[in-house]
Amino acid sequence: MGKTLYINRFSSELNNMKIAIASDHGGYKLKELIKKSFSEDIDWVDLGTHSTDSVNYADYGKEIGKAITSGIVHRGIAICGSGIGISIAANRFKAVRAALCTDSTMARLTREHNDANVLCLGARIIGEQVAIDCVKTFISTKFEGGRHEARVASLDFGIDSID
Ligand code: RB5
Repeated sequence: MGKTLYINRFSSELNNMKIAIASDHGGYKLKELIKKSFSEDIDWVDLGTHSTDSVNYADYGKEIGKAITSGIVHRGIAICGSGIGISIAANRFKAVRAALCTDSTMARLTREHNDANVLCLGARIIGEQVAIDCVKTFISTKFEGGRHEARVASLDFGIDSID
């Protein structure tokens, strides 16, 4: 199954924007803050973690990847201390295009040009208000399509070896 199929499933089966959010312990506090910033027309699901106890970011990147791959959400928000570990984990799923953003311009461009479906944030890197701006922009910005369509489609590969 490729990415296009997931996009088609979203548009025909889901109405309001559905979002999965997850973090490790480093992103827990920011995750809680972002949840409070969601408007009422957004359906969100919190895939953990649920405290500041130490956990592995890979497990939560995987939860986001599963939610996107299964088609139960349109978008994901993944947070760890740097944003890096959880973005690496989420991007291991073929259906995921996860983008680590540090400002709302990056969040806008990755929606317009890359049709990114997962926003990754580093809670120890950016301020709370900048993070919330990234989320709002990421949710509200549409993919531009056009010249970006074929480029995004060409990302749909997995390489296991160069032999
Ligand atoms: C946890 O200490 C930290 O390593 C994690 O949140 C993240 O930054 C990994 O990339």
